[in-house]
Amino acid sequence: MLSRVAIKRCFSQTSINPYKVSVLGACGGIGQPLSLLLKLNPKVTALNLYDLKNAKGVATDLSHIPTNSTVKGFSADEPDGLHNSLKGSDLVIIPAGVPRKPGMTRDDLFNINAGIVYDLAKETAKAAPNACVLIISNPVNSTVPIVAEVFKSSGTYNPKKLFGVTTLDSIRSARFLSELTQTDPTKDKRINIIGGHSGVTIIPLLSQDNLASTKLSAQQQKDLIHRIQFGGDEVVKAKNGAGSATLSMAQAGSKFADAVLRGLAGEENVIEPSFIDSPLLKDEGIDFFAQSVKLGPNGIKEILPIGQLSNEELELLTACKESLKKNINKGKEFVQNKK
Ligand code: NAI
Repeated sequence: MLSRVAIKRCFSQTSINPYKVSVLGACGGIGQPLSLLLKLNPKVTALNLYDLKNAKGVATDLSHIPTNSTVKGFSADEPDGLHNSLKGSDLVIIPAGVPRKPGMTRDDLFNINAGIVYDLAKETAKAAPNACVLIISNPVNSTVPIVAEVFKSSGTYNPKKLFGVTTLDSIRSARFLSELTQTDPTKDKRINIIGGHSGVTIIPLLSQDNLASTKLSAQQQKDLIHRIQFGGDEVVKAKNGAGSATLSMAQAGSKFADAVLRGLAGEENVIEPSFIDSPLLKDEGIDFFAQSVKLGPNGIKEILPIGQLSNEELELLTACKESLKKNINKGKEFVQNKK
């Protein structure tokens, strides 16, 4: 039989760095598998699930999994449901909103998702002003600026704690590259991807990758860049009206959330790409950019340089900047028009 002291010790060992995580939009195609993966993450000790409805059912289901976290569900139809789901959270993940159907671009989602993200950000700024906020809802290039503007209005904006989740682009790149080179996808270093999170704003820097730049022909490189930029369309087409990437996105979101938590816990050298408030192109009027960041106890510890670009990649950057600027301004203007 374990003594009381031993039991306490066991418990405290598993609850080192306890983190409270809220998922807004937790009952959707991404929200459910993402919440499952978060329930399996030992760093998460409290998991709050919020959705328009059904969050209590999903929470109860997950709560039976024997890991070291409590799970609670909150719905829009209960008083202060959103506020209570957010209170005291260290990490808020937002996959709420509608996904794409065939023929739609991420930008086509703006009219619906901008309002959803705006409302959720407003409450997050009040109830969890110090949380790291991870935005999955598309179009990420516009929803991240929306959240930044909302937090600025409430006087609680911390650019080191706002992240657009672009991890899916990089995990896809690792998989696609491994298919072309017959290498282990779990061992490959992921390709450095910069820019934004839609179509031509996604710039995979193949020239910086030893495998891609030496083993692939020029045509293969061109095709790979296109596949990474438009990989989401493959899923949208195959699902044929039933939505966009959910399972691979949940894995990507969980991976990124884990990285942020590892940073908060003081782990060194945690590096992930993300769409962030970056000084890189501010003098060209582009306030947000996707690039690798080192994560730390206060969110972003360091924004890493993008490295050298080939001439072809500089051309991709020119196309990216044009779209990205429009996407970012659309988000900012949306919030200005609300005032
Ligand atoms: P879904 O429709 O399956 O789920 C969305 C969930 O959000 C639903 O449960 C819905 O009830 C909930 N919701 C809607 N309005 C809400 C509100 N005001 N408050 C709380 N919850 C609300 O959609 P899915 O497939 O989960 O996609 C969600 C979003 O993620 C979409 O915008 C999609 O484009 C985006 N996405 C982002 C990716 C990325 O790489 N960042 C990749 C794939 C999708």
